[in-house]
Amino acid sequence: MSQLCVIGTGYVGLVTGACFADLGNQVVCMDVDPERISKLKQNIMPIYEPGLEQVVEQNVNAGRLSFTTDIKEAIRDAEFAFIAVGTPSGDEGEADLQYVRAAAESIADHVDHPIIIVNKSTVPVGTGDWVAEVVTKRRAGKALEFQVVSNPEFLREGSAVNDFMIPDRVILGSLEPKATSQVATLYQPLRCPILETDLRTAEMIKYASNAFLATRISYINEIANICEELGADVLVVAKGMGLDKRIGPAFLDAGLGWGGSCFPKDVKALDHMATMHGSQTKLLQAVMDINRNQRRRAVMSLRKQLGNLNDKLIGVLGLSFKPNTDDIRDAAALEIIHLLEVEGARVKAYDPQAMEACRKILKKTTLCKDPYEVAEDVDALVLATEWNEFKQLDFKRIKSLMKQPIILDGRNLWDARQMKSLGFIYSGIGRGNLK
Ligand SMILES: NC(=O)c1ccc[n+]([C@@H]2O[C@H](COP(=O)([O-])OP(=O)(O)OC[C@H]3O[C@@H](n4cnc5c(N)ncnc54)[C@H](O)[C@@H]3O)[C@@H](O)[C@H]2O)c1
Repeated sequence: MSQLCVIGTGYVGLVTGACFADLGNQVVCMDVDPERISKLKQNIMPIYEPGLEQVVEQNVNAGRLSFTTDIKEAIRDAEFAFIAVGTPSGDEGEADLQYVRAAAESIADHVDHPIIIVNKSTVPVGTGDWVAEVVTKRRAGKALEFQVVSNPEFLREGSAVNDFMIPDRVILGSLEPKATSQVATLYQPLRCPILETDLRTAEMIKYASNAFLATRISYINEIANICEELGADVLVVAKGMGLDKRIGPAFLDAGLGWGGSCFPKDVKALDHMATMHGSQTKLLQAVMDINRNQRRRAVMSLRKQLGNLNDKLIGVLGLSFKPNTDDIRDAAALEIIHLLEVEGARVKAYDPQAMEACRKILKKTTLCKDPYEVAEDVDALVLATEWNEFKQLDFKRIKSLMKQPIILDGRNLWDARQMKSLGFIYSGIGRGNLK
């Protein structure tokens, strides 16, 4: 059993804290957001993440997990301080490290015993060294025995608890092998491969992995666009490719592209750090361009079908950046809605979990209570996020409600032949065979 403090209780921090508590450790989760902490103290989850509430509740009841806004209290007995704060994009695409700096300084201000600082936030290569400098400078000569270990996180929103508990691998980077092995001990119960390396390599593994996954999606989207022109079906192309063991099937889903809190900012940040150090990033540039175009192509396709978008009523199903999360950061749906509204369209939308988050930012959009209310009177319906609950709608009812039976299935969720047989003017992504 170890004593942990986790700074930042968002998607990563809360899952990390709850799961480490579940493994038998004593964990205090700290956040600067009082509303978040107050909710957590009442066992109200500040985010939607399947299975998380139960793990939190069990471990709070067992006395292993607690929440505070007070860093002093959080760090008092901690052997490990995990930093899991946000690293959003700055103006130039760089990772904004202001929250990491604040977290590091708060550790420096309040710790009075040896500690291992474990960085879980996704941070540019070199940040581990920088965190050590920030702490040392902040101590202003007051001695502190500490080490910094990079431990990038690979969990996915929507399956975060499972991903944490059954990871493909754990990456640990430090210049102090003793500190690395101490952090490794925390993960030993998971019985997964643990790769120990230096700080900078660990930091790079995270960016290289996310950029590679984004590349796969942009690649299949480029192939999808070619399929559309040449009369091939990208679904079968992806299946055929994925059966090759060297390629594998994951992340070959053509659609409206990648979004969310990680891929967009991480690809940008990798591009930024590369170009700032003299490396060319032609591939990363193309990966980002393809992704941006994918959203625009959806709007173009609707414009083409409807003549123009002015005063047309468009329905959008799904607002979160992917299913099983309420996270709307850089969601394709939001950009598509914006582009439609800029061209004078009126938009109605629904999402199973992201309505609360959207209410604050979608001022012009009509937010509906279910997919059927969305379908009422619309000139076209766009499927933007492939939630399970959209898989088997009452399509006869949907069609009877729509003004025009135009469907753009942005995630290739529905059976094209069935939709056509029901009388929809159906298009998916990369389904050139349907033309
Ligand atoms: N969300 C993901 O799926 C995911 C996956 C892997 C890695 N990551 C990385 O993990 C990091 C955190 O991401 P997230 O999605 O959990 O972020 P988030 O925005 O959900 O949560 C960050 C939390 O940190 C808190 N915070 C900010 N400054 C603080 C401070 N000084 N002290 C204490 N708390 C502070 C915020 O109030 C917020 O609650 C990012 O670097 C991200 O790139 C995220």
